[in-house]
Amino acid sequence: MNITFIGTGYVGLVSGTMLAELGHNVTCLDTNLAKIASLKSGISPIYEPGLDAYITNNVATGRLSFTSNYDEKLMESSAVFITVWTPTLESGEADLSYIYDAVNNLIDFINDDCVLVIKSTVPPGTCQKVTDMLRAKNLNHAVVSNPEFLKEGSAIVDFVSPLRIVVGANDKKAKAVLEQIYAPLTLKGFPLINTDPATSELIKYASNAFLATKLAFINEMANLCEKIPADIDELTHAMGLDSRIGKEFLKAGPGFGGSCFPKDIIALSTIAKNYNTDFQVLDAVIASNKERPSYMVEKIKGILSSLSGKNIAILGLTFKANTDDIRSSPAIEIASLISLEKANVVVFDPAGMDNAREVLEGAKFANSATEACINADAIIILTEWSEFKNLNYQEIYKSVKNPVIIDLRNLLKRDIIENIGFKYHSIG
Ligand code: UGA
Repeated sequence: MNITFIGTGYVGLVSGTMLAELGHNVTCLDTNLAKIASLKSGISPIYEPGLDAYITNNVATGRLSFTSNYDEKLMESSAVFITVWTPTLESGEADLSYIYDAVNNLIDFINDDCVLVIKSTVPPGTCQKVTDMLRAKNLNHAVVSNPEFLKEGSAIVDFVSPLRIVVGANDKKAKAVLEQIYAPLTLKGFPLINTDPATSELIKYASNAFLATKLAFINEMANLCEKIPADIDELTHAMGLDSRIGKEFLKAGPGFGGSCFPKDIIALSTIAKNYNTDFQVLDAVIASNKERPSYMVEKIKGILSSLSGKNIAILGLTFKANTDDIRSSPAIEIASLISLEKANVVVFDPAGMDNAREVLEGAKFANSATEACINADAIIILTEWSEFKNLNYQEIYKSVKNPVIIDLRNLLKRDIIENIGFKYHSIG
């Protein structure tokens, strides 16, 4: 099937590439000329393990191409997926202007049977609004919701083995088009849930908000564990064995970040308010995660007495491992707060250095984790990169000023690190 993706951000590029891999002919369209030029020369603008090879292979087979133009070629598409971003407005609502722009740009070129698929995260009612927009122009295209559930860093695996594919369609023919697109996955047994567009749109927010709630809960449970004291890792292990709770997303840390959870919980809370429904649990989650970086800095100050003049090595800047993404990263916020306390901050991240250089002021950027630790008064682990698990801490011990490790991802083994001679502090 011929498919076009509008928007080559994270969602569009991964989904478009992987639909090409499943056998469809995919064109990825983006008005950002630099991005398209880079993709045409074989360079992916985003870091996602495995993606580059899939792009190269599918371009070589002719199933994947890139363009910056809305033009007649769109006429060949049976479906156009809209995967533009939906940033948060000051009101807390999602900004849908990029969705509307995309629709306005494409309607002059698509064929009458083409299905519009909204994959961006959008509030319930958006498909209906786009439908109304089309009807006002006497256009009868079906508008379908098909949210994505990819996690950065494991997006390829998430795409080819989805826990569920959600399709929100009122129109039978449009539903059939989506079923055909995903047939290579449903034939393997992966579930496709058919529902109405508004429910589909809400499923995405509900899923992200529920996971964020789980994380805020477990982070606050870690605070309690520290006071009692009790062991958060043993506690979550035992909790997770109950399949009603589940073991995923129970790892306490410095707060959740990224381009999705923080944005989506604010958007869902605003949606609830717009419908005169207070979502008190969600508001508590938002407040809890907002406070988390300062709480972490207070914890660090409690361990080191004061931060002023101390040499602090920070390992990890991205919002989680296996990505170069630093958007809403608690690590960046914590590093900035520590710099404000007049500490000498040296940072290292395996993939996020270039992005961090653009936003992180007052820190020195080391060439390696080991270099960042030289002469440190404390090493603080903020992202769970496996590289940090496997560092030669025996050698690092010899180079630090004070052997203190504050592991805010509970990444290292306490007994091994303490046997080397470090004072080890973890979460919970
Ligand atoms: C999230 C969802 O997991 C995806 O299903 C969804 O498709 C995506 O948002 C989206 O809406 O596009 P992502 O933002 O890539 O994916 O990141 P997650 O893996 O969910 O992690 C989010 C944050 O939670 C990170 O800061 C991570 O470090 C933190 N986290 C996660 C923990 O602190 N502990 C955990 O146990 C798991």
